[in-house]
Amino acid sequence: MERRSFIKRSLAVGGAALLARPASAFGAGEPAAQEPTHTPALAFTGARFPESFLWGTATAAHQVEGAWKDDGKGESIWDRWGHSPGRIAGGANADTACDQYHRFKDDIEIMKRLNLKSYRFSVSWPRVLPTGTGAVNAKGLDYYSRLTDALLEAGIRPFCTIYHWDLPQALEEKGGWPNRDLAGHFADYAALLAKHLGDRITVWAPFNMPETFTYYGYGNGRFPPGRANTDDYLRALHTVALAQGLAYRSIKAASSKATVGSAYGMEPAFPRTQSDADREAARRFHELHNTLFLNATLTGRYPDVFAGPIPYEAMGFRSGDEAVLKCPLDWVGVHYYLRLAIAAATEPPKPRGGGQTPDPMSQFHIGLFNEGPKNDAGWEMWPQGLSYLVTQVSKLTGNLPIEITETGSVFADGPGADGAVHDKRRIAFYRDHLAELARAIQAGVNVRSYHAWSLLDNFEWNDGYTRRFGLTWVDFASQERKIKDSGLWYGRVAAANRVDV
Ligand code: BGC
Repeated sequence: MERRSFIKRSLAVGGAALLARPASAFGAGEPAAQEPTHTPALAFTGARFPESFLWGTATAAHQVEGAWKDDGKGESIWDRWGHSPGRIAGGANADTACDQYHRFKDDIEIMKRLNLKSYRFSVSWPRVLPTGTGAVNAKGLDYYSRLTDALLEAGIRPFCTIYHWDLPQALEEKGGWPNRDLAGHFADYAALLAKHLGDRITVWAPFNMPETFTYYGYGNGRFPPGRANTDDYLRALHTVALAQGLAYRSIKAASSKATVGSAYGMEPAFPRTQSDADREAARRFHELHNTLFLNATLTGRYPDVFAGPIPYEAMGFRSGDEAVLKCPLDWVGVHYYLRLAIAAATEPPKPRGGGQTPDPMSQFHIGLFNEGPKNDAGWEMWPQGLSYLVTQVSKLTGNLPIEITETGSVFADGPGADGAVHDKRRIAFYRDHLAELARAIQAGVNVRSYHAWSLLDNFEWNDGYTRRFGLTWVDFASQERKIKDSGLWYGRVAAANRVDV
């Protein structure tokens, strides 16, 4: 058994936390004695993909659009957060971001050059409904209609995420996601989109990573609105799960062509040691962090992995809610970035923010592995995690179609002396992950698309513009775009449907 070490420093550095990944600190520990066995990915470079496979990229409205108050757009909680001092690395905000609101046609040209056939974007709720409910901002809705038409004209499937974290500030002022009324407001907003765009968009994901924005927004306060209160988190979790079920129905009622899934962030969780306590902690973490929302749709129930009994009362659970939660998703979206080492917490779980219910995440110590090569954010790259995850999800869902909604990595490479961006490490990252994905597909897992995160370097939440995930380099001062070597390579993969290009 290979020895394995773990990071020794906190994943949250100053104001800029490790975003969208659970964060905590623990020192070097015992090696994890059990790990899945895999053939090294590089042995599989001849990997081919099915003919109908869709190659794409993903972005999110707040991370690329800019135009934060153009044409009647309302304020979002991320606008408010970015305008508050000390929240974002370098004092940045997303007021302009990649200016995709004005440059979407240029960006579609890049997608065409890269032979891409799917674009996963999100709609900004306050752009369409400035206060979250009520009067529609026609210009905002029209933007998404024009974007959709331009994508279709370019032969690219529009894949719409309805919520990627930018809640209208006006709804936060009504209590935010802990307010159960938001489930209904969200379902109305989703129906509005499906009614106006559902003749052209057929693939809808109500949420991006519900597990993350609920916990980060209300459980530990690292994301807006910045509340660290376990009772608020539990209520938010339940409102969002209800919203997922209600939106599933409202979208289908508004558009007969709609297919609905959701995009879940999943981090394969392995026990830090082989102690019974750590093994049990890894299992509970997986069911709480990776599959809670997915299981809620499959079964109408929450797993018994909270700290103590399932906190129905704290969640505001009412009789009949099971039937709302349960909905037969048409497909499942999976993001994969890294694996986690989970240990049982040594302290008893405790509530945050003054309530009585313990924070379920306080059952764990969460760490990163430190075995493989690292990206420029210090995250270990472990391509096998992708095949591992899709295999797990496939078993859980009875082989529902899977869309890889995001996979990507941080590398700082910019233009060299010749003006080109030679980001070899990103090419290696994608080649190894895609080889693993091909292996899983050939073993029978039903994966139908891959969306690289991201088309462009963009606004990386609390890390501002300090982390570049793009296949295309962006000069944020001039908005110049330059396709990186990795983008050109990905374009060849998309054309050939194989990774050894
Ligand atoms: C989120 C993106 C984010 C990416 C990199 C994903 O899980 O959906 O918004 O930029 O992680 O951190």
